[in-house]
Amino acid sequence: MAADNAAGTGRLAGKVALITGGARGQGAAEARLFAAEGATVYLTDVLVAEGEAVAAEIGGHFRRHDVTSETDWADVAAWVLAGSGRLDVLVNNAGIFRVVPLTQTSVELWHQVMDVNATGVFLGMRAAAEPMKAQRSGSIINISSIAGMRGGAGVAFAYGASKWAVRGMTKAAAGELTPFGVRVNSVHPGIIDTEMIREFGEQWEEALVPRIPIGRAASADDVAKVVLFLASDDSAYCSGHEYLVDGAMTS
Ligand SMILES: NC(=O)c1ccc[n+]([C@@H]2O[C@H](COP(=O)([O-])OP(=O)(O)OC[C@H]3O[C@@H](n4cnc5c(N)ncnc54)[C@H](O)[C@@H]3O)[C@@H](O)[C@H]2O)c1
Repeated sequence: MAADNAAGTGRLAGKVALITGGARGQGAAEARLFAAEGATVYLTDVLVAEGEAVAAEIGGHFRRHDVTSETDWADVAAWVLAGSGRLDVLVNNAGIFRVVPLTQTSVELWHQVMDVNATGVFLGMRAAAEPMKAQRSGSIINISSIAGMRGGAGVAFAYGASKWAVRGMTKAAAGELTPFGVRVNSVHPGIIDTEMIREFGEQWEEALVPRIPIGRAASADDVAKVVLFLASDDSAYCSGHEYLVDGAMTS
């Protein structure tokens, strides 16, 4: 997937960014765009070969990292700080999607989805908070979903709950960290053409695109550009809010 933004204008020059779930999809698009805009990029994922390939392509750094693991988070934070001495941007992007309604949701599935999508974001914010507070600057971007904006009845119960949790903890963290110069925002993608959306089955496009007013699914780059805005100083006065990238699907 060639970035359509390879010639950056230095909007992240001098910044150090950490992106979880960076091996493919939106995380990889953000890694490519951030590198093109001058950032030093650290990306992590449980997919090692794919993650290493993205890092090699952009001149970034990769490490295996399960976002549900407290120990892994401590190691990743130490790795970034040892390598670059600071952390300016954290994108909590890693996530899993399961199309299972409430009545079929087992406790095991609930915990699996909540562990990655909600606990992973909590641990990430906690790991980034102290170094960013010490710098008196930073931007944390939590990837939620349109599933964190509305009920989505009968589709993906645990996923929706996890993405509402991301939206809520973003606001709580913004209230706590913004006075220290650390901004925290959530991004809410709609239907994005990545591996994840294939969870809906082979016919996902035929089933979903008619429900999108803008008339197409988004590319990973469509989301990455909004994440770039929040990562950069262009959004210096923005904290504690939701940024939708959904082609008017929830309008
Ligand atoms: N694709 C969509 O339509 C869509 C819509 C709304 C929100 N989102 C959200 O966007 C984010 C990125 O998803 P994507 O569309 O790029 O899908 P994707 O499946 O291509 O990417 C998700 C990445 O997260 C990684 N990951 C999963 N579990 C992990 C773990 N425990 N630790 C570390 N990494 C882990 C995966 O290996 C993968 O590389 C997710 O948070 C997702 O919920 C996606």
